[in-house]
Order: sequence, then structure tokens, then C-alpha cells
Amino acid sequence: MTATRNFTKDVPLHGGQLRDISERFSIPVSDLIDFSANINPDGVPHNVLSTLQACLKDLSVLTSYPDLEDVALKDSIATYCEVSPHHVVVANGFVPLFECALRTLKIKRCILPVPAFVEYRRSLTRCGVEIRPHLLTPSSDFRYDVQALIDGDHNADAILLANPQNPSGVLTPKEAVLDLVRSCARRSITVFLDEAFIDYAPLDSLTPDVERLTNLVVFRSVTKFHGIPGLRVAYAVTNQSSAKLLNENLPPWLVTTLASRAAAEALKDHAFAATTWERNDVRRTQLRMGLEAQGVRVYPSAGNYLLFHLPGSKSPQRFWECMIVKHHLVLRNCSNYEGLPAGHFRAAVRTETENKTLIQAISKFLSSD
Ligand SMILES: Cc1ncc(COP(=O)(O)O)c(C=O)c1O
Repeated sequence: MTATRNFTKDVPLHGGQLRDISERFSIPVSDLIDFSANINPDGVPHNVLSTLQACLKDLSVLTSYPDLEDVALKDSIATYCEVSPHHVVVANGFVPLFECALRTLKIKRCILPVPAFVEYRRSLTRCGVEIRPHLLTPSSDFRYDVQALIDGDHNADAILLANPQNPSGVLTPKEAVLDLVRSCARRSITVFLDEAFIDYAPLDSLTPDVERLTNLVVFRSVTKFHGIPGLRVAYAVTNQSSAKLLNENLPPWLVTTLASRAAAEALKDHAFAATTWERNDVRRTQLRMGLEAQGVRVYPSAGNYLLFHLPGSKSPQRFWECMIVKHHLVLRNCSNYEGLPAGHFRAAVRTETENKTLIQAISKFLSSD
């Protein structure tokens, strides 16, 4: 096995690292089923493909610079998020947007509930922000204790939350997040709210409320739900003056014309969204019940993924490698999540057949010596 840059503690830094896994375990990528990245298993909205195909017939898409203001994409996002386009900022991924927000708002000390998406700490560190970790516990399903979060730290000027959370998938009801944002406003704390997976629970999104919440920046992505992480489009929705500052501080032309047009269309595809909600609910329940039937503890999730804990005394690393080598199933080994006890894994919700394959593989592993 070769050690690679993307592996920490013998596990990949992120989900979806199939080339790395393929090289390490000598299994062709095409033979692997990826449960480690939470991408819609049904592929991309139909109109994304037709838009991309139409773009390729018009050479000016390649020979001209993208629209500096990205008007069409911002209009589409604004409609999707029930705000005016003046509230929208776009970039080629969550990380550049978040780092721009940290620098623009001159954040010094940020409360970071953990476990959390591993890039949060990396971004905060790169931007010289002092991190105030706040440990979430398995006994409360990693739920945010809204009051404890802010009462515990009087010096922070920001807090970074995710709704639904990653890796747990737990959803904090909109009213509770609103309470927290208002409490933070009274203490001059900026709330960074990562809603990368809120498309699965859109009624709990805070984007329609940004106008009256001046201390809130919401981040969303056109990647997971719409199945196009390779295109790289993310956006922030915030009050008008912060949006203006963020737009001024971002480098120009971050989003290519191809990505911009495809993402704008993806957000308009209501039929795709409705099908995804329905299928994801059925499939997530199927996967949850299949895992629980093996005695596996599964955490409540509003997203398209489930966090679970391996029962018994089996080696987590052996389990993860066995799933790959024997069954060609790649789970997210969560051992590199800060604050997460050993033995946790995350599985994306995939098609019913693939979910069954995973349940059977886990059953075999757990019943072996
Ligand atoms: C919670 C969370 N936020 C943000 C991102 C990054 O999203 P993007 O594709 O927009 O960079 C991820 C990617 O896995 C994620 O899990």
C-alpha cells in the first residue's frame, strides 16, 4: 500500500477518494461502490445535461469570460432561496467562500462544535482564527445544546454550525437555530451556518430570514443534492451589506460559465427535487432499519447519509478494510473526525439494491469470528 497525501491516520481525509482507495487496495475504481461521499445516487438533473450539451455547441461559452456579476446564477439562487439577488454571493466551493467571510468580517475567535466537517478547522487555521472547540456527545445524538453553546464562551466573535450536521446528519429545528442566531446577535457573535445538506429539509433553511438577521451568513452548495460536486458551485446568503463586502473581496470569475449555467438550471428542476426527497426518505429508512436489525446504533439523520457505530469489540480499521477488500464497498471511516469516539462510520444513502448489498456485507462481517 502506498501512503498518499490525502490519507491521515490510515484513512482518507474526505469521502469520495476512490482513486486513492483504488491504488491502496489494487481494486479498479469502476469496481468500487462509494458510500463515503454523500452524493445523490440518481445522478444529475436532466436539464443540467441538456444545458451542458447546448453550451458545448456554442463556442462563445469557452471563448468569452464568464459574466463578472454572475447575474443569471444569482437570480436562480435567489428564487430557490426566497431572497433578493443582493443577498447572494457565489464561488467555486464552500471553502473559498467561508475563508472569504472569515477574512472580510475579521473574525478572531470562533466556537466550533465537534465532530464537524474536517475542512472547518483547516479553514479557520489558515485564516489565523483561534478555534474554541465545543464537544458534542453521542449520548445526545450530537445535538446542539443551543444555550450551552453560547453561554460557555464569552470571548468568541463567531460560531460555526451545520444544519443538518455532518457527520451525524442531525437536524436542528429552524426555530432553535433562529433563537441561537438572535442570542448571538445580542452578544455581537456572527453565526456561520453551513446548510450544505438542507436541500433535504428545505423548510428548516434560514436563507429566507437573512434580511432581518444581520449577524448570519448561510452557506449552501449545489453539489450533493443535485449530484454535481465536480462542477464546483457554492453560495452564501447573507444580509445585503455583508453580501456586498464578500462580493468585493472574492477573486473575479471563480465560477466557470459551464458550471454557472448548469447550476442555475439544476436549481430550477422541481421535479428532480421532489423525486429526490421521496426516494431518499424511503432509502434512508431502508438502510437505517437494515443496520439496526444487526444491532448497529444509527444516529437520526435528515440528510442522505447515516452515521453509525460498530457494535462489539471488532477492530474498526479491519471492518473498514474488509468492506473494501471483500465487498468493494467504501464507507466513510470517521476515525479522523475530531471529538468522535472510535468505531463510527458514515454511509451515504444509495439505491435500494446498493443499500441491501451494504447491509448484507455488514451482517456477514458481524457474524464472522
Ligand atoms: C458539511 C459540508 N459542508 C461543505 C462541504 C463542501 O461543499 P462544496 O462542495 O460546496 O465545497 C461539504 C463537503 O463534503 C460538507 O460535508
